Amino acid sequence: MYGRSVEDPAGFWSDIASEFYWKQKWGQPVYTHNLDIRNGKIDIQWFKGGKTNICYNCLDRNIDAGNGDKVAILWEGNDLGRDATLTYTQLLARVCQLANYLKSIGVGKGDAVIIYLPMLMELPIAMLACARIGAIHSVVFAGFSAESLAQRIVDCKPKIVITCSAVKRGAKTIFLKDIVDDALTQSAQNSVKIDVCLTFENESALQKQMTKWVEGRDIWWQDVVPKYPVTCDVEWVDAEDPLFLLYTSGSTGKPKGVLHTTGGYMVYTATTFKYAFDYKPKDIYWCTADCGWITGHSYVTYGPLLNGATNVVFEGAPNFPDAGRCWDIVDKYKISIFYTAPTLVRSLMREGDEHVTRYSRKSLRVLGSVGEPINPSAWRWFFNVVGDGKCPISDTWWQTETGGFMITPMPGAWPQKPGSATLPFFGVQPVIVDEKGVELEGECSGYLCVKNSWPSAFRTLYGDHERYETTYFSAFPGYYFTGDGCNRDKDGYYWLTGRVDDVINVRYIYTRVLIHPIYLLLLFELYGAYVQWTPHWHS
Ligand code: PRX
Repeated sequence: MYGRSVEDPAGFWSDIASEFYWKQKWGQPVYTHNLDIRNGKIDIQWFKGGKTNICYNCLDRNIDAGNGDKVAILWEGNDLGRDATLTYTQLLARVCQLANYLKSIGVGKGDAVIIYLPMLMELPIAMLACARIGAIHSVVFAGFSAESLAQRIVDCKPKIVITCSAVKRGAKTIFLKDIVDDALTQSAQNSVKIDVCLTFENESALQKQMTKWVEGRDIWWQDVVPKYPVTCDVEWVDAEDPLFLLYTSGSTGKPKGVLHTTGGYMVYTATTFKYAFDYKPKDIYWCTADCGWITGHSYVTYGPLLNGATNVVFEGAPNFPDAGRCWDIVDKYKISIFYTAPTLVRSLMREGDEHVTRYSRKSLRVLGSVGEPINPSAWRWFFNVVGDGKCPISDTWWQTETGGFMITPMPGAWPQKPGSATLPFFGVQPVIVDEKGVELEGECSGYLCVKNSWPSAFRTLYGDHERYETTYFSAFPGYYFTGDGCNRDKDGYYWLTGRVDDVINVRYIYTRVLIHPIYLLLLFELYGAYVQWTPHWHS
């Protein structure tokens, strides 16, 4: 499959895309791209001309296939004993009610919506409701400050902000609505005034009376949304229409609004989920990431739901009330695929094995890791203690920008090496280059780039295409530069070594400043002036 995916990407991805619902099939060619800054504007398009809707493909399509009564979301609250479930049919009804409400206040295709919610069921509901009507969601992690939220509001100028009264994380209550109030004051000072702040009342965290209220602007979700019909027509959008914006802070400058479009993102996140986790319809899947990050977008909301999976959404903290909470949840829901981050693995490892071994965990089948290199000792603990030595670990390397997994094991299909993300996913052609941008062969060490486009590649940075080109495509012309260092061993396995942001900056100065034609001209002129005037100075 990998061979075909790189020899015939158009045919490979068309066959997979055909499994989804398209109101209108995409045109030809299946994809076009220019990744070489020397040839002009960087441009990536997949399935252009195709009309689809990712919410329809997540919900209606699975319901039509007979999965309406299957559980879509198993929600586990912060406090023990608080939980809820939604089947695919129930989830669709909730999504439609919110979509209808959004339409009623004038939110439509192409409008931005900021979602500042914790891991309540309302978070994926809000994302899907936006997608259903063609609005562009921008989820802001509900741990971010008022300043960060205001910065994002000012950048994308949403028609509405969706939030909740408060949330409990472990033993702590966080007053989210107060943070939003503060952010809305700050954004108004920057000339971006928000007319509607839809607020979900999170009873488990806070009583309604305690929330500060701005009459005319603030509206309780529970007062309006349930009044709307449980069906809502779909807005068919072009495959290249924007689906969402997600801001990444990066090491310098203001946050970058990474923009993902609809069709390619849909096809790629669904396919990576299916293969990298060896997903089967009976699996119960849990990804511990928050939807405020890309992992929550691609592998809590879209990837699993596109596959008709049963998905756990966890509101709380993984060490509350104690370090055994994750394994308690694994046993409670009989989770078979568990996807998390090395930081969590290491922190639970420090708490001791007994927190793990007092739970059975016998439902576990596949484990996953993301976010940073997983050091071999944490990998071994995860494999031997959590997985009882029987669950392969998918160490998935990818980025907000890539939308989906880029380098990842295929569980059971090829040998694992603790600490290596192994080999590229279908259609991905990674290369390692040296500091001059020369592609290295075989066993080597250098900078990780990708030399082709893949369906879920980000298309631009919102409102700043030039920054997109300089940050990602100028350091090593001809390639997408990931910003990561990487080694490749003799078996072709990739070993990520971490961010190399300084290289981006140095290369930027080198390509854009030092060898920019205007600077060369200026240097030339200065030299001319020097030659001309030196004799006069001497005289
Ligand atoms: O340095 C890599 C690291 O996380 C970066 C991407 O961060 P972000 O956009 O926030 O997305 C995180 C979730 C996809 C990468 O450039 N990274 C992510 N996964 C891995 C990793 N480093 C090593 N191994 C991984 N599996």
